[in-house]
Amino acid sequence: MIQEFISIEQSGPLQGAVELTGAKNAVLVIIASLILTHGKSRLTNVPRSDDVLQMIALLESLGATATFHETIHVLEVDTSHINSWKVSPDIMKKMRASILVMGPLLARFGHADIALPGGCVIGTRPIDYHLKNFEKMGVEIQQQSHFLTTSAPQLRAARIILEYPSVGATENIMMAATLTQGTTQIINAALEPEVLDLVDILQAMGAKITIQAPATIVIEGVTQLHPVQHQIIPDRLEAGALLLAAAITGGSIKLPTARADHMDVFLLKLQEMGHTIVRGDNDRGISLFATKKPRAVSFKTAPYPGFPTDLQAPMLAAQCLAEGECVIEETVFENRLLHVRELQKMGAQITLEHNKAIIKGVEELYAAPVIATDIRASCALVLAGLVARGVTSMTGIHHWTRGYDALEKKLQTLGARIKVHKAQSVITNEFKVAENEWKSVVR
Ligand code: UD1
Repeated sequence: MIQEFISIEQSGPLQGAVELTGAKNAVLVIIASLILTHGKSRLTNVPRSDDVLQMIALLESLGATATFHETIHVLEVDTSHINSWKVSPDIMKKMRASILVMGPLLARFGHADIALPGGCVIGTRPIDYHLKNFEKMGVEIQQQSHFLTTSAPQLRAARIILEYPSVGATENIMMAATLTQGTTQIINAALEPEVLDLVDILQAMGAKITIQAPATIVIEGVTQLHPVQHQIIPDRLEAGALLLAAAITGGSIKLPTARADHMDVFLLKLQEMGHTIVRGDNDRGISLFATKKPRAVSFKTAPYPGFPTDLQAPMLAAQCLAEGECVIEETVFENRLLHVRELQKMGAQITLEHNKAIIKGVEELYAAPVIATDIRASCALVLAGLVARGVTSMTGIHHWTRGYDALEKKLQTLGARIKVHKAQSVITNEFKVAENEWKSVVR
């Protein structure tokens, strides 16, 4: 029996147009937010990734009924019969985003019993900002080993100051505050496009939320919220992956549904590399025409509107073949450069200094068996595989399927030679080729 893996062959310039699916990071929290309502809501543009299926299963475990029309990306959820506030530790440990049901459960029941969440290994990822601010809102929290029992018969509005604009903490507190009497303020709130998509759906449900410059979210509690229809925003991280796939292979791509205004700094960096970017009218749609001689660019990740940490790994892969030297600094998560080791196996010249990667562009990468360590690392390795000599095989593909909705199929339509191999008892030819090529290179 061998592990599942993805094989990626060196592919020519990728070319074509792709429709994006909805943003995974928006839909996860939006599904959680439905707990605040009683009745049937309809979400469109919902991606079919494993994390999304997991969040649907979580709501079903609490008593919701869900129908996912996967082929048309429509999800209907009826929350009328949610009758439990206890989340199974099995579900919690699979996905960090399951912490996002805490705010809605506290608002609906005054209770939430959860285990400490799992998810990608990209740092210690504590949830202290969530917990200490819920305490400010009157929540009592008891921790026993990995389990939290929380209760607040009456949540109270508060002036919350986040020491760091955490996406999850902003979302969790905002959801709880929608049904909390009085005015809650979240100062130094995260304002990622996915957070704003949550604001949009909460407002459509009847929540009273305003945003004040520079980064304060003000929520006036209401007594109830109603079910809604909502279209999820396009996934800027899928868009980034596809733009880089065209860029790294020297091709061209059109993403008619992409939101250029959600990706300003990332697009700026692609332009600095020498690629041509064309933004559609009103920032709807992005086209990229790759330069044949990309230049290396340095950047630092930061909360929105800075360079997104979720595009750091894919962008780092693109620097490995760019001309010159650059420095990439990861400031959001402390352990998010694990893909560097894998890219080094493929011939990339990278030196690590704490949270910085110093990259010297090389002429060529070569195929190797590599391991994906988180969702975005899997994307970086696929991108490198598209230009590496030979056939790259990547294991750890549950990260890929957790984060992307069949992105390999979209890449195939652009001309990429990429294939997902499910677990089986015989070793396939592609795997043998990849292993042999790698052995001959490292020998
Ligand atoms: C979300 C995204 C993730 C993205 C990240 C940053 C989802 C489902 N995931 O994750 O893809 O990479 O935003 O854009 O939307 N922190 C604490 N204590 C806390 C909470 C966070 O110290 O209580 C730290 C984290 O360890 C990290 C930083 O704050 O170093 C940012 O984390 P946060 O913005 O909360 O990320 P997530 O919401 O987990």
